[in-house]
Amino acid sequence: MNAFTEKIKLVFATNNPNKIKEIKALIPDNIQLLSLEDIGCKEDIPETSNTIEGNALQKMEYVKQNYGYDCFADDTGLEVEALNGAPGVHSARYAGEDKNSTANVQKLLKELEGKENRRARFKTVIALQLGKEQYTFTGICSGNVIFDTRGNQGFGYDPVFQPEGKTQTFAQMDLEEKSELSHRGRATRKLVDFLVKKGQ
Ligand code: IMP
Repeated sequence: MNAFTEKIKLVFATNNPNKIKEIKALIPDNIQLLSLEDIGCKEDIPETSNTIEGNALQKMEYVKQNYGYDCFADDTGLEVEALNGAPGVHSARYAGEDKNSTANVQKLLKELEGKENRRARFKTVIALQLGKEQYTFTGICSGNVIFDTRGNQGFGYDPVFQPEGKTQTFAQMDLEEKSELSHRGRATRKLVDFLVKKGQ
């Protein structure tokens, strides 16, 4: 993976330590990841788009425009078939403005009460700004919302999401197992392949 002649610096525009952990594990050493803290960005970055892709682009553009760094941002949503794609782009604030994951999960289970169709998918869009160019990478993971929480690893909706073909929820998997099939793992591998090819 050491295709770069010199290290490239990229800001990862998130304050979510779980996302940082998952993505760091998949990024080769020759890409230097900077955090928002590293560049002195302390404010909340706006996410006001009505699409997942729009939010990823918005976060990325905010960093480029205000701090001048090449950057990538991840936006993720859980799309539930029986709820017509909800919570989708509203996944973070599903149960309220305080973005409380426990409350979000409880609301989801309540909305699905009595529904037989539990099919859902996670969608991650990673938006990348390199110089003047913008790119997006999408990762999708299909599965089911189970009836109660299981497991205590991961974050967000992980305790109720069981990926297709698996008997464990994401919250019962370690980081590596989750990343192998997860939405974020898939989008990140596309990002890394792209960066490696660019560096060759
Ligand atoms: P955002 O991408 O940070 O806006 O996340 C939207 C919502 O989805 C938040 O409630 C997150 O906790 C949740 N979320 C994001 N990624 C994951 C994941 O990999 N597993 C479970 N929940 C996630």
